Amino acid sequence: MGFIELKAYAKINLSLDVLCKRPDGYHDLKMVMQTIELHDKVFLEAIPKGIEVLCNSKWVPCGEENIAHKAASLLFNEYKFKSGIRIKIEKNIPVAAGLAGGSSDAASVLKGMNDLFNLGINKATMTALGKQVGADVPYCIKGGTALAEGIGDILTELPLLDGINVILIKPRFGVSTPWVFKNLDLSKITDRPDNELIINAIKEKNIENIACNMKNVLETVTIPKYGMLEEIKTKLIKLGALGSMMSGSGPSVFGIFADKSSAESAFRAIKSNKWDSFLTHTV
Ligand code: C5P
Repeated sequence: MGFIELKAYAKINLSLDVLCKRPDGYHDLKMVMQTIELHDKVFLEAIPKGIEVLCNSKWVPCGEENIAHKAASLLFNEYKFKSGIRIKIEKNIPVAAGLAGGSSDAASVLKGMNDLFNLGINKATMTALGKQVGADVPYCIKGGTALAEGIGDILTELPLLDGINVILIKPRFGVSTPWVFKNLDLSKITDRPDNELIINAIKEKNIENIACNMKNVLETVTIPKYGMLEEIKTKLIKLGALGSMMSGSGPSVFGIFADKSSAESAFRAIKSNKWDSFLTHTV
């Protein structure tokens, strides 16, 4: 029986705009996504039948509600082949954090099962399958630097922005993405990201221009509720970050640093028992 090990990377947003609410309850977005080095490990093993999910984190459910389980179940239903799968997740990406950790695990299950069982799924079909599992899954399948539109599934590849130093801070609570979208008042948003400006800065690899212009409209919901996030953003800037923003629906906040040594000294200074801190970089 076959075995495959994959790295499931976290993402941060360099921008996040919400354009409108759709009739299906989802929202049309326009956002720049960026993969970071922080990753889970996903181990896939063919077993005679069934879907087993095992995870070393107490925050991750292992039943049918697990998004990685959903991805496997979708492939068994669509491709009707006789096997089962054991999915072991070594969790390093914080859960319910705005970092697409669960979506990335699910993306790894789709990619890994495609290889393990020689399903021959092409890129377009993989994206369509990913979208059925979750809005961020198509991006997680692809990774790198990308503009995401639609519900997050229409992707335009951008020049790869690798090697940027990032400090990521995750307060010790989670935030529910549906709750954030439900409480978003589109009529009250006045400060939207200029995605064209961010994209041009990415093309020029102008880190300062990217960092200074990052905006996430979901901050209007999450930050008023959790004041600590504003405190973290201010701290990161005081410690030398070129810019700081919440990722996705939060509560993770990150800062972008010009070089490794300034990121390292800020990382030593920002450690606290109120949050988990990660020193990482874009990939
Ligand atoms: O697709 P996924 O399950 O990751 O989305 C979680 C929730 O986030 C959705 O149920 C929806 O409430 C909200 N969402 C949204 N518009 C998007 C993506 C997510 O409203 N484009």
